[in-house]
Amino acid sequence: MKIVKTILELQDARKELHGSVGFVPTMGALHNGHLSLIQKSLAQNDHTIVSVFVNPTQFLAGEDFEKYPKRTQADIKICELAGVDVLFMPTQEVMYSKIEPTLLAPAPKAYSLEGLARPGHFDGVLRVVLKLFNLSKPSRAYFGKKDAQQLYLIQNMVQSLFLNIEIIPCDIVREDDGLALSSRNVYLSEHERQEALLLSKSLKVASRAIMAKERDCERIKAEMRTSLKPLHVEYVEILNRDFDTIPTIELGNCIILVCAKVGTTRLIDNLWI
Ligand code: PAJ
Repeated sequence: MKIVKTILELQDARKELHGSVGFVPTMGALHNGHLSLIQKSLAQNDHTIVSVFVNPTQFLAGEDFEKYPKRTQADIKICELAGVDVLFMPTQEVMYSKIEPTLLAPAPKAYSLEGLARPGHFDGVLRVVLKLFNLSKPSRAYFGKKDAQQLYLIQNMVQSLFLNIEIIPCDIVREDDGLALSSRNVYLSEHERQEALLLSKSLKVASRAIMAKERDCERIKAEMRTSLKPLHVEYVEILNRDFDTIPTIELGNCIILVCAKVGTTRLIDNLWI
């Protein structure tokens, strides 16, 4: 595996990759969720490029940019053992220049849900992902459904900027007890980790209601909020695949999303129906 840190090194490494190239952008502290994206890319492409970059432009002032978990050596080992061809680990200076055009994620869809609590977050995400796409020139790029709004906005960017990249959505990887894997789970105390299970449990409440033929989204959301009671809930929402709120469940076209604070840690989870 080649570990590259500069633009030139990455461009040189990219030139040597022939055939299809899969790309998995990450912010590191890799876990089995990231690994599932990497494995899918390895299975579907001749070569795989992974990036590890904690992108400053997607963090708002006061967020956890400074203390975001870093596991550089472990990340390298995980990618190496998986069989990744190129691991790109740039610094902030490599990725950004002082004067450059920016990208605005489209309102209103980038300013609801995650974007409401984190205005400007998706501008930073799209900006870095576009740069990473331009460098890695992938045939396919892999994103987790865990970050459903990010996935939607990236698919939208690829379509609207005519990027010739196939975006592959990947299923959410969970712990045995249902907790969705996240690099931020390390912030949770043992007690908070138990409370965090309420997020995935609330999604099970929703799926049980739907299996029992409930179709009214307001009633389902109310049931979910009841099950989330001890937590500070930020949003519970039911959307279609175009990220529009829907009044009635449309089987095969629904995403049920939840966001809640456990202690000081904001957690998100969702279920695709
Ligand atoms: P990061 O949070 O490191 O996530 C990298 C990718 O892993 C994302 O596509 C995310 O949805 C996916 N992922 C995270 N947890 C997952 C899980 N439990 N199951 C499946 N996939 C999971 O998302 C980012 O980084 C950044 O915003 C990035 C796209 C790299 C731009 O900076």
